[in-house]
Formats: sequence, structure tokens, C-alpha cells
Amino acid sequence: MKKLLFVNACVNREISRTYNISKELISLLKEYDDFDVSELILEEEKIQALTSETLNKRFELSVKKDFSNEIFKYANQFKEADCVVIATPYWDFGFPAILKIYIEAISIPGILYKYEESGCPSGLCKAEKIYYVTTRGGYIDDEKDLGYITVAKLGKLYGINEIQCIGVNGFDIQENNVAFIVKKAIDNLPNQL
Ligand SMILES: Cc1cc2nc3c(=O)[nH]c(=O)nc-3n(C[C@H](O)[C@H](O)[C@H](O)COP(=O)(O)O)c2cc1C
Repeated sequence: MKKLLFVNACVNREISRTYNISKELISLLKEYDDFDVSELILEEEKIQALTSETLNKRFELSVKKDFSNEIFKYANQFKEADCVVIATPYWDFGFPAILKIYIEAISIPGILYKYEESGCPSGLCKAEKIYYVTTRGGYIDDEKDLGYITVAKLGKLYGINEIQCIGVNGFDIQENNVAFIVKKAIDNLPNQL
């Protein structure tokens, strides 16, 4: 069975618009393909930002190519996914710190990508596609969303061909009908697969 990794960086999930839309996306993806879904709720995972100690430990094990240690579990999981969905609110022109900390935990040469003799990186991930689902308070083009730009660049580094942004705008504009925006975004999902 194909593996779908759902990286959930949403907070206040019971009311999160981003989470709402991403859940619908996942249902749809499961209809099209028989995915086995693993959801990582980042605020529950409590992954720690790298420190001198953890970075040096990781480096030592990487040099020995010993990637079986627990500290590599998120990277190994990401590498094996056939499809990745990242759900994150748009915060401060990009994404929340918990997602950056997750990226630190997975972005490991030797697992997600390697360097060729020429010095150029090449990707080692299995996934063909990342869906980057985000909702924003204002109106920002996907191409100016620093969160999406970051994930798009990293996805390419990891060897993932397609990084699709499902970005929905205007959630914190007082006169907007938020329920209508969510419904429209969900109705439009089949056109974005
Ligand atoms: C800490 C924080 C930072 C935010 N930064 C921005 C921002 O830079 N630009 C913007 O348009 N909206 C910003 N917003 C608004 C959110 O993008 C918007 O409310 C979004 O729909 C939240 O998603 P959610 O309902 O899934 O939590 C911010 C909200 C919070 C709580």
C-alpha cells in the first residue's frame, strides 16, 4: 500500500481552517489512491530544535552512515513516503516555528539527499509530490509566501518533482465570509490534484 505522510503544523485544530481544508484533501487523495495515511501532529510530537549536542551527535552518526538511531526516525519516515501533505497556517510571511523544527529534524544529507562527486546535491526521496496547504489572513500570492518558497526549494533538493501550493487567502478580512471561503476551497480541491 502506498504511504501518505500528513505533516500537520496546525494549531487549535478544532477551529483551524487550514486543518479543515487539508483533511478534505486527504480524503480526496485516499479516494483516488489507496493510501495508508500517517499523521504527524507537530505540536504533539514536541520535536526539539537542534542544539550543539544534538547536531554533533547527528553528525557523528551520519559520518558512520548509521541512520538507524531514533534521531533519524522523522527523516526515514519522510524518505519512504509516496506522497506528502504539509498543512500549515501562514504566520509572519511563512510558517510556524514548529514546522521549521520538523524540517531541521528531517533535512539530513545521506537520508533525504546526497552530494555527488561533482558537489551537486541529488535527491533520495520516494515521493513524487508534496501538497503545501496553507490559509492566510490577508491576500498573498503563493510565489511570495516564504513558507511555500522554502518547502518548494527543499522539495526539489530532496528529489521531489512537484510541490503544489494550495493557498487560500483572505481569512482575517472582516467583511469576508470565512465559511464560504472554506467551502469554495474544498469544492475546488479536485481541480488541484
Ligand atoms: C502568529 C500569527 C501570525 C500571522 N501572520 C500572518 C501574516 O504574516 N500575514 C497574514 O496575512 N496573516 C497572518 N496571520 C493570520 C493567519 O494566516 C490566518 O488567520 C490563518 O487563516 C490561520 O490559519 P488557521 O485557521 O488554520 O489557524 C497570522 C496569524 C497568527 C496567529
